[in-house]
Amino acid sequence: MQNIVSTIFNRFSSKSLPLVLLTFLLTNVSAAQDLQIERKVDNLLSSMTLKEKIGQMTQFGGINKKYEEMIKLGEVGSFLGVKGAEKINELQRLAVEKSRLGIPLIFGNDVIHGYHTTFPIPLGAAASWNPELVQLAAKIAAGEAALEGTKWTFAPMVDIARDPRWGRIAEGAGEDPYLGSVMAEAEVMGFQGNNLNNDLSIAACAKHFAAYGAAEAGRDYNTVDISERTLREVYLPPFKAAVDAGVSTLMSAFNSLNGIPASANYHILTQILRKEWGFTGFVVSDANSIGELINHGIAKDEKEAALKALTAGVDMDMGGDAFTGNVYSPNLASLVKEGKISEKLIDQSVRRILRIKFRLGLFDHPYTDTLYIKNHIPDQKLRDSAALRLAEESIVMLKNDNNLLPLRKDLTSVAVIGPLADDKYDPLGPWNCSPIPKRVTTVLDGIKNKLSPTTKIKFIKGCDIESNNKRQLDNAIRIAGQSDIVILVVGEAANMSGEAASRTNLDLPGVQEELVEKVAKVGKPTIVLLMNGRPLTIDWIAKHIPSVLECWFLGDQSGNAIANVLFGDYNPSGRLPVTFPRSVGQIPIYYDHLNTGKPFEENNKFTSKYLDSPVTPLYPFGFGLSYTTFKYENLKVEKNKIKIGGSTDVSINVTNTGKISGSEVVQLYLRDLVASVSMPVKELKGFQKIYLNPGETKTLKFIITPKMLELYDVNMKKTIEPGKCEVMIGGSSVDLLSNYFEIIK
Ligand code: NOJ
Repeated sequence: MQNIVSTIFNRFSSKSLPLVLLTFLLTNVSAAQDLQIERKVDNLLSSMTLKEKIGQMTQFGGINKKYEEMIKLGEVGSFLGVKGAEKINELQRLAVEKSRLGIPLIFGNDVIHGYHTTFPIPLGAAASWNPELVQLAAKIAAGEAALEGTKWTFAPMVDIARDPRWGRIAEGAGEDPYLGSVMAEAEVMGFQGNNLNNDLSIAACAKHFAAYGAAEAGRDYNTVDISERTLREVYLPPFKAAVDAGVSTLMSAFNSLNGIPASANYHILTQILRKEWGFTGFVVSDANSIGELINHGIAKDEKEAALKALTAGVDMDMGGDAFTGNVYSPNLASLVKEGKISEKLIDQSVRRILRIKFRLGLFDHPYTDTLYIKNHIPDQKLRDSAALRLAEESIVMLKNDNNLLPLRKDLTSVAVIGPLADDKYDPLGPWNCSPIPKRVTTVLDGIKNKLSPTTKIKFIKGCDIESNNKRQLDNAIRIAGQSDIVILVVGEAANMSGEAASRTNLDLPGVQEELVEKVAKVGKPTIVLLMNGRPLTIDWIAKHIPSVLECWFLGDQSGNAIANVLFGDYNPSGRLPVTFPRSVGQIPIYYDHLNTGKPFEENNKFTSKYLDSPVTPLYPFGFGLSYTTFKYENLKVEKNKIKIGGSTDVSINVTNTGKISGSEVVQLYLRDLVASVSMPVKELKGFQKIYLNPGETKTLKFIITPKMLELYDVNMKKTIEPGKCEVMIGGSSVDLLSNYFEIIK
């Protein structure tokens, strides 16, 4: 614990978060009472009827008067989409006081990046490379959710995504299994605290199991066909990290995986999750994904779908409502009676569900204790300060020619142009939960708050996000011409990413590209601020605009955070968690690819490349600029030979060579140079975010552990092989110093 405290203190020492927030992050320590819980589950199970058991495995969406009777009869175990302590306590009372056994309900919602206080979308938060801050955001979200009765969140989404056409890339931590695992762990720890049995903790749900992010052509819900190797090396690690962090639940995905729909996939749901990883929580299906087994063509009717999902390992059916879409409740009893499934199988699922309800303390305190939670959650000002800090750290500076940024606060005139500049809704991003739009500071607000009263600020939308209406373009050009500095705020609408929001074209939508190009041609120093839920293809902007900030959707504090960066009150420290392609034609593009037999060479036609585009990305993974500069020197490997199972220290000196303080994300990559299988050209294995004053040097130490050296051999056995390895450390995936060591027998 001391270590975590000091890491957090060090991390924030530059601009400390208040002590009370740090203490809040670290509370809730208590010993697990697993054995006692198992006994209680045994007792309860032995007195349940089959109908009551199936009730526990049933979740309904929304509320309906008719559900009240069903709750009293023990025919429902969970609700999705019900919000508010009063309503939830009322339904809970029916379950606890009016049903035969008094088993509490569990209420789940999509608390993805905040409940009321809205934080950056997960892809943006991952750009902070600051897991402690991500953990704090999840913990605040959990507290606010719990205050309104929600004890279960369908988060984190830990799907690795390498195709930005897929809109759900916004909901996860990007392309990398290691960064994804670190963020998965942070979110689980934030939502669940150290003890689930606390009024401020909520159960987390790692989703969508598995490989949903590998949807063919980036089209949502589409087929996934990947090798077992890719599944295990790329898509499973964040799920494993979530399980190791004690995640309570997993959600089975919509997609089919190598021919078998995830919600009927024994291999992942039982073989890997339960038998290999020892997961003891429960699996909920994604909404209606059991019924959809019929569309997938592996079940002739809902009954067969229920049979397949349960035998594969799905414990709870997230259905539509009680009357349509729900597949377990109308079918499981007859399947048992017909001998197609044993009651033991039902018991196994019910046990897992009850276990989590006990761990959450729902039997002892089923009702939301609003007074207790209000007294223990940090006040709104503190929650806002955490949201501001995460928003600042999520911003990635992609370009800053001639140090155009930061801007002076006494500018004579500024033009703020763009459809997202004064927008309070879209910065909340996709999958916001219960946001309060009026609390959002827009970019225009943020800029106004910074500038001196004498500065003339002119604002015009210029165009809509999506329409083809060009009526305001000329006015935008005129206003740009009248100003000393032009700030363009462009991007996507919030609903263009998230679920069912795939795109084939990743350019700025509508006529925004034309707006940017025409305004830029006026010739004033121009800054582009991008808001989007995915990498966009911004080749023209990258070539012609001197300063570009990637701002994702930053939530409530959007305008404040962006203005802090624009005017130098925060030195940008975000780094890309995902590669930005030059064009859609390069997709999928990611940094940890294999070398191929003909790796790219500039002057050799017969190497892996394109005729019509560079092979490199527009902006690589791990990239991001700062208002200062960092120099890397002296990459030392302590032992240049290590025995299988051994480890070595490596160290590097990092110096702030600029004139102002700033944070750097020091990234460590490894490459296994000769193995029994082809290994990626580099793989992120560690990072440290550090703060350096001007002229300051820090020597950073990393430990290369056996776990970092593991690979799946030709027989898919996890192993460490002897041979030479390259270690690379630097400030992005393409800007690295390297050294070598050898693994010996
Ligand atoms: C469907 C989505 O795929 C999933 O992520 C979400 O948690 C559920 N709906 C519930 O809203």
